Amino acid sequence: MNIFSKSAFLPVDLRSTPTERQGDDGSTVKYQAPGDTSYDRNTELKAFDDTKAGVKGLVDAGLTKIPPIFIQKPHTQLGDNSKYSIPVIDLEGVSRDATKRRETIGEIMEAAEKWGFFQVVNHGIPVSVLDEMIDGICRFHEQDVVEKKKFYTRDVKKKVLYMSNFLLYSSPAADWKDTFYCAMAPHPPDRNELPAVCSDIMIDYSKQVMSLGHTVLELISEALGLNPNHLKDVDCAEQFVLLGHYYPVCPEPELTLGTSSHTDTTFLTILLQDQVGGLQVLQENQWVDVPPKRGALVVNIGDFLQLITNDRLKSVHHRVVARNVEPRISVASLFRPPIRRGSSSSVYGPIKELISEENPQIYRETSIEEFHSHLSSKGKDGVSSLLHFKL
Ligand code: OGA
Ligand code: NI
Repeated sequence: MNIFSKSAFLPVDLRSTPTERQGDDGSTVKYQAPGDTSYDRNTELKAFDDTKAGVKGLVDAGLTKIPPIFIQKPHTQLGDNSKYSIPVIDLEGVSRDATKRRETIGEIMEAAEKWGFFQVVNHGIPVSVLDEMIDGICRFHEQDVVEKKKFYTRDVKKKVLYMSNFLLYSSPAADWKDTFYCAMAPHPPDRNELPAVCSDIMIDYSKQVMSLGHTVLELISEALGLNPNHLKDVDCAEQFVLLGHYYPVCPEPELTLGTSSHTDTTFLTILLQDQVGGLQVLQENQWVDVPPKRGALVVNIGDFLQLITNDRLKSVHHRVVARNVEPRISVASLFRPPIRRGSSSSVYGPIKELISEENPQIYRETSIEEFHSHLSSKGKDGVSSLLHFKL
């Protein structure tokens, strides 16, 4: 039996009784409510997962309607770019020119406090390396599905894996994307464990982005009035993970999202996106586009950095809208505290120097393990994990 045949995966009658709902932009959208028991969501999720071919497999099979498991609550797709634009920060000269460094630190601080997001240019990573990284991730996702399936698993104890939707079973709606995952530090996989189609560039890109991440953490430490090595030394950035996302063309982009609204469960994230666009950041209740900028990298503050800075820096909600024009590729570099299996875990709380009578401690101490188990149980429901750790 062809697992992609529409009748096997998606009985036509599941699509024939959608509810009509008013979208948040006033338009009428067809919507099958999560919780609607006229279909067995878990069976559908499992059938999709078992194909091991991801969302790309559905699109390659010629699907023209999206399965109900991907249907989101009604939402607007357009970013409101009339009032806001994400800061672009030029890093040229920050390590040799003291005046430039001071200025840049001021810009980073303003962006990290207000937006939680900024783009960096002149960061020292050649455009050719960025382009090759995007191409490498594209080659991974577009290779023969038989090869790709060998990496399909939900077992994150593996260092190298591919799957669609980490939180497939616990989230209210699945995202229209597939993800390649690789934990590159502190214990990198052997070169022969990496997919042959992108191993060289993954190693090269990781080295360069890790170095950039450390520079950004130094600048942020200084901006907070701390020793430049403070944030590197608390080991919150010790684990480095690459996520190579592939957002297939979507036949009904207004019904789903490429990535649903979330904050990053990281310390810091550095994102490389191709030129397709779709990333949006929530600012004063408006979704604002983060326009692709050739040669630039997007930096955002993760939940852990918000927690240890006692809310001074912001881990901001963001999402990716689905598109029906061409596939989109992005690479998220996650800096996060290492999960120490079997040994005692590190505990993190707000930095003492940032707490005072005027700025009392907001969060209790927690560990990355507790953070992750909280996240996995609640799923991608659009609510910040940080709320759970407030005192
Ligand atoms: C993420 C993320 C955005 C993108 O991986 O956490 O938000 O553009 N990615 O793919
Ligand atoms: Ni994110």
